[in-house]
Amino acid sequence: MGKESFENWTKEELIREIKKLKKRKKYGIVWEAKPEKVAELCKEKLPVLVEDKNKEIKTEKKEPINLLIEGDNYHALSVLNYTHKGKVDLIYIDPPYNTGSKSWKYNNDYVEKDDTFKHSKFLSFMEKRLKLAKNLLKVDGIIIVTIDSYEIFSLGLLLDEIFGEQNRLGILTIEHNPRGRSDDKFFATCHEYALYYAKNSKNAVIEKLDLTPEQAEAFFLKDEISNYRLLPLKRSGSNSRRTDRPNLWFPIYYDPTTKSGSVDKPRGKGFVEIWPIDGKGIERVWRWGKETVKNNLGTEIVFKEANGKLNVFAKDRIKEGRRPKTIWSDPKYDASSHGTILLEKILQKNKAFDYPKSLYAVNDCIKIVTKKKREATVLDFFAGSGTTGHAVLKLNLEDGGKRKFILCTNNENNICTDICYPRLSRVIEEIKNSEGEESVNSKPGNLKYFKTDFVDAEPTDINKKKLVDKSTEMLCLREDCFDFVKKGKFFRIFSNGWGKNLGIIYDDEGINPFKKEIRKLNKNLVVYVFSLDESAREEEFEDVSDLVQLKPIPAVILSVYKRIFK
Ligand SMILES: C[S@@+](CC[C@H](N)C(=O)[O-])C[C@H]1O[C@@H](n2cnc3c(N)ncnc32)[C@H](O)[C@@H]1O
Repeated sequence: MGKESFENWTKEELIREIKKLKKRKKYGIVWEAKPEKVAELCKEKLPVLVEDKNKEIKTEKKEPINLLIEGDNYHALSVLNYTHKGKVDLIYIDPPYNTGSKSWKYNNDYVEKDDTFKHSKFLSFMEKRLKLAKNLLKVDGIIIVTIDSYEIFSLGLLLDEIFGEQNRLGILTIEHNPRGRSDDKFFATCHEYALYYAKNSKNAVIEKLDLTPEQAEAFFLKDEISNYRLLPLKRSGSNSRRTDRPNLWFPIYYDPTTKSGSVDKPRGKGFVEIWPIDGKGIERVWRWGKETVKNNLGTEIVFKEANGKLNVFAKDRIKEGRRPKTIWSDPKYDASSHGTILLEKILQKNKAFDYPKSLYAVNDCIKIVTKKKREATVLDFFAGSGTTGHAVLKLNLEDGGKRKFILCTNNENNICTDICYPRLSRVIEEIKNSEGEESVNSKPGNLKYFKTDFVDAEPTDINKKKLVDKSTEMLCLREDCFDFVKKGKFFRIFSNGWGKNLGIIYDDEGINPFKKEIRKLNKNLVVYVFSLDESAREEEFEDVSDLVQLKPIPAVILSVYKRIFK
């Protein structure tokens, strides 16, 4: 509507327009939402996962069960929302970078360079997935998203909106292509970004990186406390003159007979008075105040003579590690040598996949979050060739951890079946074979392979059976209990093989036979009861309450169950 036409508007129309404008987003990113088929389908039917038992890899019962899900990640994340809500420690994703060069499909079509809605499609796609993903994070969970210049601005704003700017922990620049992109017109791009966000930055921890051998070497001196290096106690550079900090200008007294120092003038003679004066005769200051010097004279301060002059040094003790910097530049992050070529070696085939990350880049990204969380669950829902799974296995191998991974990738160009799965199975095999029988590290972990599927909500017998079977599998996934123990007409019991048990009851008629069974078993169980009415079941389990922990069936499953069985 043209400007002049406002004059013809009625008062009511103008008020309505003002109210609409006032409601509009004041700051942030706006785009035209583009509906997506897979999201629409998940509203009509119950998304589930179906296991491909032929692809299961079993190594060691007590090792974590890792999951690989083949299918669209919107679907997979919807299922994980009823199996893994609030259970994931770390999400690492490397989404398509939307470069316009046949790298990414939206609703089954490639998004081209000249598509005017390319950013809108990308944002619609990412928003839905990131919102589902956020629910999966633990209260101290962290998400890492890699991206390059094509979408950094839009994705960055979207992440700020979903996770909150206050939860943005850092934006790393990783030099993944040290040679630089040769076909760039103006600058040879050699880096990409890794954006770190926390579910809540108050709970988040980023661990220190180990010192490099060169860094550790500098701390070659050693006393009974630790390794250290010596730094002059005399300040240099800015703010180092006596006039700048007069309170840090004072003498330190050294007694050569006892080889000890003091800030109070000793009685008698024979001591040396040392002032912070540099080689050019400029009056400087000490780095520490009088009180600190006094308190540290015993173990932390060293006197050394050079060219007939006494100098004072402070011990700089070796650190536990170094705080990760925001620029990561190291040959090990080269995606070509430690991604593409590594993958070709593992799979023994050329041109296996175009965009794998460097194993070490992913490894270090994950390590600084899970160094002390050795049983962390790590999710990657743009898994591609499975570098994240490989990195988790490698980290466990290094420190004996029991981290587990959940990977999801679609099967575009057979990436899941022909690249990701074979890669993971070869890495698992290799780890198994590379270590001695006794080594704790020789048990790399188990893998279950799932595909995405739906249960229709029409009340047919086939759908009823499928719902019962599939929701059972989903509850097994939720509780990490897959070993079948016992079956009755209306119940099933599972265990994880080392102490945890799961009971699922499909009808009220199953409650009594189930109770009889668990009294015989005499084991603690997590129990789910399918029921058409809303009534709580606590009372019916009062007599076995020492054995049973009742949990509600996830709402999404229950609502389809009610639609089918009512
Ligand atoms: C940039 S690659 C990730 C590469 C991975 N970091 C690696 O090192 O191999 C993105 C992957 O996400 C997959 N993908 C794209 N859209 C997807 C979707 N909607 N659901 C599941 N996977 C998807 C693509 O097939 C591609 O393999």
